[in-house]
Amino acid sequence: MPPNWSPSSWKAFPSTQQPVYPDAAALEAALAEIGSLPPLVTSYEIEALKTALAEAARGERFVLWGGDCAENFADCSSGSIASKLKILLQMSLVLVHGTRKRITRIGRFAGQYAKPRSTATETRDGVELPSFRGDNINRAEFTLAARTPDPSLLLRGYERSALTLNFVRALVDGGFADLHYPQNWDLDFVQHSPLAAEYQRMVDSIGESLRFMETLAGGTIAAMQRVDFYTSHELLVLAYESALTRQVPRREGWFNLSTHLPWIGMRTSDRLGAHLEFCRGIRNPVGVKVGPDATVEALLATIRALSPDNEQGRVVLISRFGAHRIGRELPPLVRAVRDAGLNVVWVCDPMHGNTETVVPSSGAWAGKSVKTRKFGHILAEVEQAFEIHRNEGTHLAGVHVELTGENVTECTGGARGLADDDLSRAYRSSVDPRLNYEQALELAMLIARRTPRGNAT
Ligand code: PEP
Ligand code: CO
Repeated sequence: MPPNWSPSSWKAFPSTQQPVYPDAAALEAALAEIGSLPPLVTSYEIEALKTALAEAARGERFVLWGGDCAENFADCSSGSIASKLKILLQMSLVLVHGTRKRITRIGRFAGQYAKPRSTATETRDGVELPSFRGDNINRAEFTLAARTPDPSLLLRGYERSALTLNFVRALVDGGFADLHYPQNWDLDFVQHSPLAAEYQRMVDSIGESLRFMETLAGGTIAAMQRVDFYTSHELLVLAYESALTRQVPRREGWFNLSTHLPWIGMRTSDRLGAHLEFCRGIRNPVGVKVGPDATVEALLATIRALSPDNEQGRVVLISRFGAHRIGRELPPLVRAVRDAGLNVVWVCDPMHGNTETVVPSSGAWAGKSVKTRKFGHILAEVEQAFEIHRNEGTHLAGVHVELTGENVTECTGGARGLADDDLSRAYRSSVDPRLNYEQALELAMLIARRTPRGNAT
């Protein structure tokens, strides 16, 4: 355990984005209950993920990390969970086929309920109320009762996370992810996609290789019947995270057992702040968003604070500059980290630096402001990330994307050429715009073409 650290030492540091609970006793009771319940993940899984991340940093593996911007309690249903797994499985099949690398899948799920907000309050018609911070904090309706942070929602969030994980684990253990039966992952509209034929060719070719290998081996290759999914969410509400931070038998140190891979978002990444302090003492791998105006000095200090012993797989830097800034701003950071000899895992988030507001000129949303992202910008940022790491002799270890297995219209462009006027048709995100099923698959195909090939499947 690092010096002067405990699961609650963050309380002595300046924190942002923390809900203010008017009923302190109710908060303590909810936290005590969460603290007495079983963990959501295990230290064994966390250590296995750290090893996989270290491999990805060396270019031996690729990380596919994705899911909704925010999960909603209402979407904790079998269909919604299964379709998140399906799109991640289809993308990873494309990636395995193209890159010849092992793929590690990490979902933005089973805990991604709280969102950082740019303002603590929202004003409508002269009435000022706390901002909506996500389903585990308060409720979206614009009334004082709904917007007042309610600690019992932390407990509901913990339970929803457990329900989601339970279903994910049961599906995976039951053979849902078996590479012998990729038809399990087909989404209803797959046959209508312009990419369907290319995807089918990859499925067939992997099926053929698998049968060939099994003929040689004289039996089923068991490793192909099971794949792992890891969970992640933005580490935001520190009281909740510390209630699930535990010591485990026969291992040193403390593990945040609310998720495998927590990450620190842009708005809470102050290197002298409470979120950094909390992460300093947990043994999980920790993600840190790195975006516009990051300085070399602050970044090196953050990495050293999180990983004083320079542990491989521990610090995951998620760059998110936007297609127009990554080329100028990422290379000096990559160089500085490399030259300082610090072990980090570089991942590209091509979503959050590319958010823009458009005003459709026709359709149901004509004249209204809509948050969207252009598929071309998302692709351009990923392509530049590959190029930058290749030039610097480092590896792009993975991508972190907001996507859904549903047929939404939230980002424009892609194989079907969605335009601004199409956005109103199926825009379901209450927060950031996500890639739909086809756009996500198209992104995987592009990455598969860009990643230097490995030897393993
Ligand atoms: C997010 O990942 O949903 C997010 C809010 O990102 P960032 O912290 O990079 O803005
Ligand atoms: Co987002």
